[in-house]
Formats: sequence, C-alpha cells, structure tokens
Amino acid sequence: MNLDIDFVRAQYPVFSNSGTARWAMFENAGGSYVPSQVVDRLHHFFQYTKVQPYGPFETSIEAGEQMEAGYRAMAGLLGCDPDELTLGPSTTMNFYVLAQAIRPLLKPGDEIIVTNQDHEANIGCWQRLAEFGAVVREWRIDPQTGELAIEDLKSLVNKRTRLVCFTLCSNIVGTMNDYKAVCDMAHAVGALAIGDGVSFAPHRVLDINASGLDLYLFSTYKTFGTHIGVMWGAPSVLDTLEPQGHYFNRDLPHYRLNPAGPLHAEIAALAGIQAYIDALYAHHFDDARLDFHARSARVFDLFAEHETVQANRILAAIRAIPGARIMGQKQAGISSRAATIAFTIAGMRSSDVVKRLVEKDIAVRNGHFYALRCLEALGIHDAADGIIRISLVHYNSVEDVDRLVEGLGRL
Ligand SMILES: Cc1ncc(COP(=O)(O)O)c(C=O)c1O
Repeated sequence: MNLDIDFVRAQYPVFSNSGTARWAMFENAGGSYVPSQVVDRLHHFFQYTKVQPYGPFETSIEAGEQMEAGYRAMAGLLGCDPDELTLGPSTTMNFYVLAQAIRPLLKPGDEIIVTNQDHEANIGCWQRLAEFGAVVREWRIDPQTGELAIEDLKSLVNKRTRLVCFTLCSNIVGTMNDYKAVCDMAHAVGALAIGDGVSFAPHRVLDINASGLDLYLFSTYKTFGTHIGVMWGAPSVLDTLEPQGHYFNRDLPHYRLNPAGPLHAEIAALAGIQAYIDALYAHHFDDARLDFHARSARVFDLFAEHETVQANRILAAIRAIPGARIMGQKQAGISSRAATIAFTIAGMRSSDVVKRLVEKDIAVRNGHFYALRCLEALGIHDAADGIIRISLVHYNSVEDVDRLVEGLGRL
C-alpha cells in the first residue's frame, strides 16, 4: 500500500491557496505545515473557549477538556500515560528546565555525556552543569561522515556516568542513531538515557516503553502541530526529579516540571494531530480495533516508505553535482537515515545555492541550524553560510521532488 499523497495534501490549507501552493517546501526540519484538523482546533479554542481552563463554568470546563484531549493525543502517539508528559513552550526550554530538575541529583565529579552531533538544545544546558562540579564529556562524530560510533561511547561511559544525552536523529546528518544500543550502554553503568527526538518524531513513531529511554523530548511544531515542546519521562525517573513549578503544584502531573503556565490553545490544538493521523488511517486501512499508537505506527510506516524513496532520488541528484559533499550516509534507509539532507558544493557558497533554488519556488535554507558544534567538527569553517539543508516529510509530492531534482541538476 502506498501513501495517497493527494489525500494527504487535501488536509493542508496551505496546498489549496494559490499564494502558498506554488512552493515546493523542503524546509520541514525547521517547522512543518499544519493540517486543517490542527488549525480548526486552534481557531475554535481562540474563538469560543479562550478563558482560563479547568474552572467551574461551562466555557472553562470545555477549555480544560480540549486541553486534556491534547495531552491524550500526545500520550497516545507515544504509547504512554498522559501524566508522564510535560508540555512546555519548546524543546530547548524543556531541556533547560530538565537540566535544573536533574542538577540536585548530581555530585561533583559525576559525569554527563553529550554529543557534538546534537542541536545545541541538548548540549548547552548540560555544559552549564559543569559550574556545579559535573564533568561533561563529548561523544564525537567522525569528521568525515558526521556519524557517531557506538564503540566510542563504550570508551566514554564508566561508573561515574550519570547521564547520556544524545539525539535519535541528527538535524544535519540525518542519521538515525541506534537508540536501543545507546540506552543499553547507559543503563549498564546506571546512567539515564536522555533522547532528543525533534528530528525523529516527524518521520517515525517511537514506542516509548520499548525504547529504553528514560526521558524523551520532541517539538510538535515540526510534527504537524502547534508550537509546543513535549517532554516524556519514565514515572520512576520523574519521581526523582526536583520539581520546577510552583511549590503548591509539586504533585500535579503536567505542572511539576513546568515553571510557566501551559499554552492552553496550542495544547488543545494538538488533538488535531490525532485527528489528522486518524483521517489518514481511515483512508488507508480498515482495522478499527487498534489503539492510537498502533494506528499511528501503521500510518508512519507509509510515511517512511514514501520519504525513503524520495530521499534517495534527492541524494542521487546531489551525488551527480560535481564537488558536492553529502553529510552522513549517501543512501536513505527506513531505519538508518531520515530524509533530512545536508550538503555543500565545493566552490559555491551555500547561500548562493539556496538563492538559486528559492528563485524556482523551492523552499530550502542554509546555515548551521543551531548544530554549530556538528558543523565545526565536519570542518565547515564558515558556519553562518554553513550547509544547504533539504528536508522533506510525507506531504512532499513526487512533483515537488521532480522540481527539486531539476533545480539541483541546473546547479
Ligand atoms: C534536533 C533538534 N533538537 C532540538 C531542537 C530545538 O527545538 P525547539 O525549537 O523546540 O526548542 C531543534 C530545533 O530545530 C532540533 O532540530
């Protein structure tokens, strides 16, 4: 069974508007488009229930119920209990708060492993803990390929390691790291495994309880939803963390690790992601007995197939450009490489390449994408010009990719 792209695109208002539909959108790793199921819920919340939720009167009760549906949708996607989720304004903010919540658990000399493949969100907050005596060690990429080797992690972990912080999928290299192997290695020395899923979640569904992760974070504004950061924690781990909300909210799920009030309308609209996935599920499959996590997994399997075929077309087109250097693996694979593709062309500025594609209504971008350490390690010295990044998701059509391949050919 193939993903019905016409049906998919019919869910997105942006593809039926003459002003916006002309763009072949390949900057999805920056932020994805939103289907009408999400837009409608956001609109409805602002239009009719924009009051303080969870109060005693009807509108307020309804606002609270809509928010609960948002929490349930994200929990269903991951296969966890809604109480295990904190929904903050972004993943960067959630990581920052998480680091503060973990800080009291660390003794001077305790070790934290970070990678230089990660987005800065999952590095800087841990580096700051060095001020309190933590020793931060760096698991480094291969400077040619940009990939992390699990053997290198083996030589970094020891009995003082308390945290292993890594990404499930790099927002530059596109490699999907073997998260189970990383978690096993962390647990073997009694450390927590903390995974950044921001570049993973738009492409694959994670079964959170089978993953081995202790904490997992991703951003819904890159996963077809509103601008929210989702943080999941295993209950046994959450119980040990220092609460970061108001002291009288210490025992309240959703609020314990949230120093701010949650974003009401944006959380309510997350239920639209579930409605969207369910619309795709109903269109492609007919087994109604599965739970939402299992339904999502089947829909995302269709996404993965489509993305992998199209990513390989793009990778082939880049390989054909003289002087092109692709970061990471040269071929996409369902479990090895996502459709997030970074490259440079010898003798051309990345900004000039981007300009020429943008002139053809192909939306791409260059820069370091907040993974500055990764670019430096790859030997890219002008980080502001950086790499050209092409990132596709399931709603990119074959025609979008045709246009991109043609544009790349003209370079
Ligand atoms: C891999 C990765 N991690 C973390 C982040 C930070 O997410 P947020 O913008 O929600 O803070 C990003 C954002 O681009 C990212 O790509």
